[in-house]
Order: sequence, then structure tokens, then C-alpha cells
Amino acid sequence: MTELPATMTAIGLPTPGGPEALVPETRPVPVPRAGEILVKVAAAGVNRPDVMQRKGLYPPPPGAPDIPGLEIAGEVVALGEGVTGWKLGDKACALVSGGGYAQYCLAQADAALPVPAGLSMVEAAALPETFFTVWTNVFDLAGLKAGETFLVHGGTSGIGTTAIQLAKAHGATVFATAGSAEKCKVCLDLGADVAIDYKTEDFVAVIKEKTGGKGINVILDMVGGSYIARNYEVAAPLGRIVQIAFMEGSKVQIDYMRLMLKRLSHMGSTLRSRPNAEKAAIAASLRAKVWPLIEAGKVKPVLDQTFPLENAAAAHARMETSLHIGKIMLEVG
Ligand SMILES: NC(=O)c1ccc[n+]([C@@H]2O[C@H](COP(=O)([O-])OP(=O)(O)OC[C@H]3O[C@@H](n4cnc5c(N)ncnc54)[C@H](OP(=O)(O)O)[C@@H]3O)[C@@H](O)[C@H]2O)c1
Repeated sequence: MTELPATMTAIGLPTPGGPEALVPETRPVPVPRAGEILVKVAAAGVNRPDVMQRKGLYPPPPGAPDIPGLEIAGEVVALGEGVTGWKLGDKACALVSGGGYAQYCLAQADAALPVPAGLSMVEAAALPETFFTVWTNVFDLAGLKAGETFLVHGGTSGIGTTAIQLAKAHGATVFATAGSAEKCKVCLDLGADVAIDYKTEDFVAVIKEKTGGKGINVILDMVGGSYIARNYEVAAPLGRIVQIAFMEGSKVQIDYMRLMLKRLSHMGSTLRSRPNAEKAAIAASLRAKVWPLIEAGKVKPVLDQTFPLENAAAAHARMETSLHIGKIMLEVG
């Protein structure tokens, strides 16, 4: 076994602020506790929640590292007590509660998954955050079934590109909204049946027309704000709406009449603070039901740009332009 170094480079966040608040620091290499693996990180994903954390609006949950980064891929280099199913040298990708922007990162062993055959480390690191989120919200919580209609807002976000592909692969008719004609084309290329440029078209009117007035069975929404009332308007009777963020705001005045008359369910969830056992259960579902789709080439991570770890600030600046399509990644040299 190769001797592990005592220290590593990680991206610290001494004070909240703009992208420049992310600075390379030297930190101790963490030691796995019971049930954890230590991963030598090859690549890490950048996610919108990291931007919120950087701004001081999304503090890490108790016990989580202060280093940002919610997903990684790399090589298993140490095992905590009681870990089964992993051995040194295995290639893993993992959902982590923080610490991903670093050369080494701890992961809960049963929230880690093997790197799917045929994927690079950068591609594998792009999977956990969006695949765990989409699976638990769209399939576990909202119970999307084959033959139903599905709408995702932010269709070219990391979450959106994953949601389109997984919903399509499970037999849904997929609608997506996005902020440009170029982004709409990407949604269609990923399998969306209808893509709506929300800057030039009213998604409520388009969907009513395309569904013959029936509306949408399951909606995954990260926008909130004015979309909440419009989601109620476009939902089918017994529709299920899952809220995973509020990019346009979480405080709105709303008429709930449609919620009652259409017998809608409006739910929400956040992944990071969920108990370990729930994350492990999602990982097990993904391994059984989604990893085979990835290995068969039916579903793939969509990559935007990859930056060196030390340049995490540039990766965040790119995310805040909202010009990106798919995942922004960090590679560890
Ligand atoms: N609850 C959870 O467990 C959970 C887990 C992971 C992520 N999330 C949330 O899911 C969302 C997507 O995450 P991500 O990492 O995939 O983000 P991302 O790639 O940065 O995508 C966000 C996209 O949303 C679109 N958008 C629509 N309205 C917007 C607005 N008012 N402000 C900014 N962007 C807007 C933008 O594209 P357009 O050009 O189309 O507008 C943007 O590219 C984030 O809000 C994130 O916090 C929640």
C-alpha cells in the first residue's frame, strides 16, 4: 500500500463572498471513521448548492467538512472500521456531504458506487449529486411512472440534463424549459419530447396545447417564485410537484384553490442533510436500476467545462454566468 501524505491541497472558504472567496489551502488528509472510505480524488463536480455555500447561504450540516464539494470520483486509498464491499485500489464515485474540492475526501462507504464501465473519472464524478437528487425526488417521492408526462424546469442544468434522460429512459413523455434556443436544442437531443424557451414562450400555454389540456403528471421545479402558481396551472389532476430549490425566491403570495380542486401533491426535499441510511438506500436503487442504463450508454452525464482544482473560482464564475450546459467539473492534477 502506498504511504498516504499527511497534508493535501483543498479549496478553503475563509470568508463567504464571490468566486474569489475560494482559495487553495493546505489541510490535513482526513482519516476514515467507521463506515467511511478515503478516496484519492481524481475529479469533483461543481453544483449550484456549492455556489450558495460560497455566498454564505447554505452552511454545511453539522459534522460535514467546511471544504465545498458534494461529489467525487477517484481511487479508494483507506478503509474505516467495518467497511465491506470496498477494497484499496477500487475506483469509486460518491455523494459526499462536503469536502469534494480536495485531493483526498471521505465518503460514506454505502453512499459510494463503482465507476460505471466506460466512463472517465471526470464523467463518473459528474453523476452522484444529480443522479441521487433526481432519483429520490422524481421516482421515490413523486413516483413517476411509464406513460406519464414529466416537466423539468432548468432543462440544461446538471439536474435538468439528468432528469430528462432518466424520465425518458423510464417511459415518460418529457417536457423541459430552458433559457435559450441553443439550450432547448440540447434538451431535445437528450430525449425531451418538447423543449420550451421560457424567455420567448409561455410554458403554461405551450404545455396545455401539447397535452390537449391534460397537463403534467410530475413536475421537478428548482425555480419557485412565479413558477409555483404556474406549475399548479399546468399540473394534471392528481399531479405531483417536487420543489428542489427556489432560484426565483421562496416567498410568494399564492391562490391554493387549484391545489385543492386538482388534488395536487406539492412536496420538497433536500439531499445533503438526509440521514446516511437514506443516502445508502438511494445509492442501492441507483446501482440496481440506473447504473446498467449508464453502462449500456442509454444515459450519460452531460459535461460543460472542466477546470483544475486550484481554479475552482473560475468554475464558480462560469456557473454564475448560467451559460453552461450540463456539469462544470474540477480535475485534480
Ligand atoms: N434539493 C436538493 O436536494 C438539491 C440537490 C441538488 C441541486 N439542487 C438545486 O437544483 C438546482 C439545479 O442545480 P444544478 O447544480 O444542476 O445547477 P445549474 O447547473 O447551475 O443550473 C441552474 C440552471 O437553472 C436555470 N435557471 C432558471 N431560472 C433561474 C434563475 N432564476 N436563476 C438562475 N438560474 C435559473 C439556468 O438556466 P436557464 O438559462 O435555463 O435559465 C441555470 O443554468 C439548483 O437550484 C440547486 O440548488 C437541489
